[in-house]
Amino acid sequence: MGGTAAVWLRVAAVGCAAVACAVAVDMATRRGMAWCRWYRAVAVVRDLEERCATPTEQLQRVVNSLAVEMFAGLVTEGGSRVRMLLTCVDALPDGSEEGVYYAIDLGGTSFRVLKVELGAGSTIINQKVEHQSIPENLTKGASDDLFNFIASALKNFIAREGGEDEGRALGFTFSFPVRHSSISSGSLIQWTKEFSVEETVGKDVAQCLNEALVRNGLNMKVNVLVNNTVGTLALGHYYDKDTVAAVIIGAGTNACYIERNDVIVKSLDLLTNPGRTVVNVEWGSYRPPQIALTPYDICFNKETQSYYDQGFEKMISGVYLGEIARLVFQKMAQESDVFGAAVDGLSTPFILRAPYLAAIREDDSPDLREVGRILEEHLKMQDVPLKTRRLVVIVCDIITRRAARLAAAAIVAILQKIGCDGTLCGTSRVRTMKGVRKRTVVAIEGGLFQGYSVFREYLDEALTEILGEEIAATVSLRVMEEGSGVGAALLAAAYS
Ligand code: BGC
Repeated sequence: MGGTAAVWLRVAAVGCAAVACAVAVDMATRRGMAWCRWYRAVAVVRDLEERCATPTEQLQRVVNSLAVEMFAGLVTEGGSRVRMLLTCVDALPDGSEEGVYYAIDLGGTSFRVLKVELGAGSTIINQKVEHQSIPENLTKGASDDLFNFIASALKNFIAREGGEDEGRALGFTFSFPVRHSSISSGSLIQWTKEFSVEETVGKDVAQCLNEALVRNGLNMKVNVLVNNTVGTLALGHYYDKDTVAAVIIGAGTNACYIERNDVIVKSLDLLTNPGRTVVNVEWGSYRPPQIALTPYDICFNKETQSYYDQGFEKMISGVYLGEIARLVFQKMAQESDVFGAAVDGLSTPFILRAPYLAAIREDDSPDLREVGRILEEHLKMQDVPLKTRRLVVIVCDIITRRAARLAAAAIVAILQKIGCDGTLCGTSRVRTMKGVRKRTVVAIEGGLFQGYSVFREYLDEALTEILGEEIAATVSLRVMEEGSGVGAALLAAAYS
């Protein structure tokens, strides 16, 4: 073969080599770019992990600073980042209560109507709890409409139960910060989650409900107005006298505890005797200075610049955890294509609810099938690759772990505040009474805690880290099913 043909052949050969080379370079470049994009997604997750780290010493500092804020909150109104609201509850049910009592439990868009029949000796003979949803328009509409809806739900419930309203005392659990003027009255300071019925702010919410009861032809009156933490404490104490505090970890988060009246300096007119009073901490408004916010935390309220922006609640409770995860996924999608092209589903706020976040974290199938299903059904992201699903699980884990560990620190802060952290005068020695270790019981309720085992494990683990094994063993968290509402019925009985 001579001349031109040979040249063409050589050119062709060189051409082939060049093409092969170009293809290889292209593939390598693409692989490199894909790796780069993947790495950028991983970097988002690594950064989140670093920012959300809560080593034990840091938790210990959160404990101390929250305990200090709690002291300050008992001195002056507004003098602390936690409200420390006096609840006017100075006696908890002791088991001698008897009769039939009704209660309303309003804590979020799902509310409950309850009928509880009590027998002597801490016996609940019968209890009926009906869950109802509040229509979305009522969560931001007129105050009277909201309370009418609640009163009419109660009226229908009593009719269905064949009960009697005649002059009955009613327990009203209202899970928002309230400034009490008595045990049966108090004005709403601020809606903290899910509601924004502005007209109600500043009003006596017990009176709002009483008026609605009259409008609906019911002859009943609120005789106790309580926070859900207080209801839970009442039920806890009904069963176990060592119960000193109650915690809610659900849509929102908060705690209350039994305080000695002699350390309360503010609002002395509300303290009727020298004994003890239940204090509603409202720890959701705390912002631990030791914990830096991540860019995904939705704590800072630019409009109000307020202390009470529920910063702590937004790092811990059910309404917000899924939203934090969604914001992280959105960032990953901006940085890289790990979720594929269809990521519009990520732009809807609050679409990823806490039960989905829990299900993602708890999916232990080898191919993370449940994670894939949730991403597809709720975030409209199809066929997300397995390695990305693994990253998704890690994100949910990081967010859960921080939340649970902060909740543990807050629980220890309460125990520390009342000297029930099991230590003897702040030492690491275990408190004993007649040689027996003193136990401390904390009643606990809330969907996030009850429905999410990984959350509970992380919380327990952090309690042990902070308190040490020996002391942690003296503290028990006791779940009080429907405590917030049943406790209100118990208090209605105790105060009637
Ligand atoms: C409210 C508290 C309530 C907690 C748990 C918070 O948003 O401010 O009053 O106890 O949620 O439901």
